[in-house]
Amino acid sequence: MAKLIYSAITSLDGYVEDKQGKFDWGTPDDEVFAFVNDLERPIGTHLYGRRMYETMVFWETVSTGSDQPAVTRDYTEIWRAAEKIVYSRTLQTPSSERTRIERDFDPAAIRRLKESSARDITVAGAELAGEAMAAGLVDECHLLLVPIIVGGGKRALPDDVRVQLELLAERRFRSGVVHLHYGLRGF
Ligand SMILES: NC(=O)c1ccc[n+]([C@@H]2O[C@H](COP(=O)([O-])OP(=O)(O)OC[C@H]3O[C@@H](n4cnc5c(N)ncnc54)[C@H](OP(=O)(O)O)[C@@H]3O)[C@@H](O)[C@H]2O)c1
Repeated sequence: MAKLIYSAITSLDGYVEDKQGKFDWGTPDDEVFAFVNDLERPIGTHLYGRRMYETMVFWETVSTGSDQPAVTRDYTEIWRAAEKIVYSRTLQTPSSERTRIERDFDPAAIRRLKESSARDITVAGAELAGEAMAAGLVDECHLLLVPIIVGGGKRALPDDVRVQLELLAERRFRSGVVHLHYGLRGF
């Protein structure tokens, strides 16, 4: 049985993008990037909201030449090898290999996917992850808290969802980023 995991890089006040739609303030340095690579390495399938997919598909075509930093080459290989399911009512065709589009987020289908998958699954894009959390599908959450307050934007965590969390691990990085790993223990 695979776990469904939500991971996000968020400002201290809980936003994945600011009011201008920017998240450059969350760009990981090499230490955080290497940590993220190790989180993503075991993942078999990514569930993406369309907006998150449009950001992430950059990795499909980025150069993997020796001019690129080792951490980004590593991430590129990990990302390209994973399966992707994109949730969208507007996207016509995927722009990456191993990718299919779903028109509806069906909790029963995700439960079946978890039961049949040998490797863990992530859900990303705060909107889609919020739907998964509200449906009780998310088992774990990784938050990378960036030491910045951005004052508004797109919230990392959904409104109107109440869940008890268990802290499973934490780590601090030289940049001041803090990683918090939680298990979701029920409503
Ligand atoms: N801080 C970070 O970790 C980080 C990293 C990279 C990027 N970002 C940015 O964070 C933002 C996340 O945006 P977001 O949370 O608004 O987007 P999201 O969850 O990635 O995508 C929202 C879109 O997903 C589709 N969708 C959602 N629920 C659906 C459902 N039930 N059925 C079918 N389709 C569904 C819809 O696409 P359609 O409109 O096509 O129907 C919806 O507009 C993005 O701008 C991303 O670039 C943040």
